[in-house]
Amino acid sequence: MSENKKYYITTPIYYPSGKFHIGTAYTTVLANTVKKYRQMRGYDAYMLTGTDEHGQKIQEVAMSRGKTPQEHVDEMAEVAKELWKKMKIEYNDFIRTTEKRHEEVVAQIFERFVQNGDIYKGEYEGWYCTPCETYFTPTQLVDGKCPDCGREVKKMKEEAYFFNMKKYEKRLIEFYEENPDFIDPVYRKNEIFNNFIKPGLEDLCVTRTSFDWGIKIKNDEKHVIYVWLDALTNYITALGYMSKDETKFNKYWPADLQIVGKDIIRFHGIYWPIFLMALGLPTPKKLLVHGWVMMKDGKMSKSKGNVIYPEVLIDRYGLDSTKYFLLKVLNNGQDGVFTPEGFVEMYNSDLCNDLGNLLNRTIGMINKYFKGKMPQKAKEYTEIDKEFQKIINEKIDSIEKNMDNSHICDALSEIWEIISKANKYIDETMPWVLYKEEKMEELDDVMYHLVEALRKVGIMIKPAMEDTSNSIFEQLNIKDEKLQSWESLKEYPEYNQELKVIEKGQPLFERLEVEKEIEEILELMKK
Ligand code: MSP
Repeated sequence: MSENKKYYITTPIYYPSGKFHIGTAYTTVLANTVKKYRQMRGYDAYMLTGTDEHGQKIQEVAMSRGKTPQEHVDEMAEVAKELWKKMKIEYNDFIRTTEKRHEEVVAQIFERFVQNGDIYKGEYEGWYCTPCETYFTPTQLVDGKCPDCGREVKKMKEEAYFFNMKKYEKRLIEFYEENPDFIDPVYRKNEIFNNFIKPGLEDLCVTRTSFDWGIKIKNDEKHVIYVWLDALTNYITALGYMSKDETKFNKYWPADLQIVGKDIIRFHGIYWPIFLMALGLPTPKKLLVHGWVMMKDGKMSKSKGNVIYPEVLIDRYGLDSTKYFLLKVLNNGQDGVFTPEGFVEMYNSDLCNDLGNLLNRTIGMINKYFKGKMPQKAKEYTEIDKEFQKIINEKIDSIEKNMDNSHICDALSEIWEIISKANKYIDETMPWVLYKEEKMEELDDVMYHLVEALRKVGIMIKPAMEDTSNSIFEQLNIKDEKLQSWESLKEYPEYNQELKVIEKGQPLFERLEVEKEIEEILELMKK
């Protein structure tokens, strides 16, 4: 595969402090969807995820569980891998920051920064938020509390090493001028620009002496490398940067897409590009920033008892409905809300009524009117047919653009516009009347257009909902891989006339009893 066909996509590495809720699962589902899309488009797509295992918070959680930090993170990394397996996430590599391949390279990177004069030793005094493991300047505090999580901060002072951010300030500003689209959506870029870059960069404290669960510095062992320098570099250590074998690094770096939540944009939009500049490495091509999945009463938290875990939704409602909900609930960097009502409504309306019924009705009609025989390629196009095709073709173009930009929520909305249009097309063409009037050729044409709409929908939902896509193709009996490929979206194939659709359509999604399921989800949230 040629060099420009590679596509490297990353998720943040998650803190393994507890089980992973649907919010954390969101990024991974999104990244996986982008990866699958790129693969369908012929890219050598490579996806990285992992766990961020050092730091005070992890040490404290481990202690509270009566475990050593290592025992705790070993367990939690397995929990993460199990979840991704259940969600059919096809990552290429899972990096853990406690792995040797990571720790050794981070220590080397630190050394190099010291040698180049990027890192110096000093004394740090500031307002420290323990849960966020971040120091803040007085001006960054909001009402005297942590600007990220709103909790109490305490004044702390310690001998520490600093990264000289100021040295790179001008280059960072130039970088943003040259790459105005680096952060998507752009209003998120304006936020960090106005709040952090314009007022002038502060040097970043990159070590701690207040805890010891971390990568130690050579010759000054009471210092451990502070989590962000440790964590951010995972994106290159996982590729073997500075190791004996840099093949993967040379092939995949720079990342084509890094996906992060809005809370960690500062780290990825300021410190990360600067670390890379200091290493003389190219910066990532795009940083996609998403909002948060919220609950009616605000953030998800164990203490509020409002956490929803992906496993419980998957076990009861299936994988694809869970993924579909997540991919639809957040858009354009904004927050979205999970409510049991919203979930059930989306399930019944979008999945069961719109998509499920379209497939079911189509298969039912082909069986009833043509004994299951695949329709022939349409010959005559009525005005209604032409309108229908025109809308589908226009939508395909804009869905492709959205997929290219990794705007999956918008792409799915437009796919569902095709589905609605197809349902409407049935009402407009009234196949039952055509049958009664024995207009069998016209009726066959209508079936052809419906099969084609479903085939196209099946292709376009594949990156996000592979199981559903496969089921559509199975039920329509379209086995030819070419006809399942993105490239075939604009084609109008001739179907093998020997083929028959499935005799009895299988519901893609079973209708939910609204009240009962809302109660059910509320119960599940208590578990
Ligand atoms: N370990 C750091 C990331 C280091 S990357 C070099 C971290 N971990 S985290 O587990 O706290 O968060 C990981 C990601 O999950 C972040 O992108 C964060 O925005 C995202 N989310 C956490 N809660 C979320 C929601 N409720 N909704 C959507 N995303 C959420 O930060």
